[in-house]
Amino acid sequence: MNPTLPLAVLLSLQLGSAYAQDPHAHPAAPAHDGRAILTLNPDERAMILDEMRRFLDGVQKMTAAMGQQDMPAAAAAARDMGRKMAHEVPPALRAKLPLEFRQLGASVHGDFDQIALDAESLKDVSYSLGQLSATLQKCVSCHTMYQIQTPELNGEH
Ligand code: HEC
Repeated sequence: MNPTLPLAVLLSLQLGSAYAQDPHAHPAAPAHDGRAILTLNPDERAMILDEMRRFLDGVQKMTAAMGQQDMPAAAAAARDMGRKMAHEVPPALRAKLPLEFRQLGASVHGDFDQIALDAESLKDVSYSLGQLSATLQKCVSCHTMYQIQTPELNGEH
């Protein structure tokens, strides 16, 4: 009568949603560690990872600014991760990304625009940290579900 679900059940539920995507959207397959694979070319992989490192850099800047109660700087760092960061994704890469992946990515960018607006208007560190934490949960979710592989690098032509 333990009310908590076993971790394995929770994990399989969450991973199940990664595999439940439209099979025409992307040929995602389970990897050894259970994450769905995004098969991209090296340039596309580099582009996504570059964006990811900009996310981590931006989150670092945001938290540093909030530690100083510098809400204009926190807002600027958040805005750099907003929708303006997302709009240069080439169509060929877009087409390879599953709908769920794109939606999660768009949602994160949208969150950062909102966090920027609220940081400027409310100037409330606790509130902004709560928003940032909720957004970081989306980073965590996506990382739980997907990995990138490049056939060229793996010698699987
Ligand atoms: C829509 C999915 C998605 C979202 C949202 C997302 N990531 Fe990622 N991220 C990935 C994938 C896929 C990888 C590559 C993982 C792999 O291949 O093992 C990655 C890799 C990374 C890396 C490693 C970069 C490198 O050079 O190797 C960092 C750092 C990172 N993400 C940070 C973040 C942060 C911070 C956020 C949230 C603000 C975030 N990501 C949101 C999908 C996402």
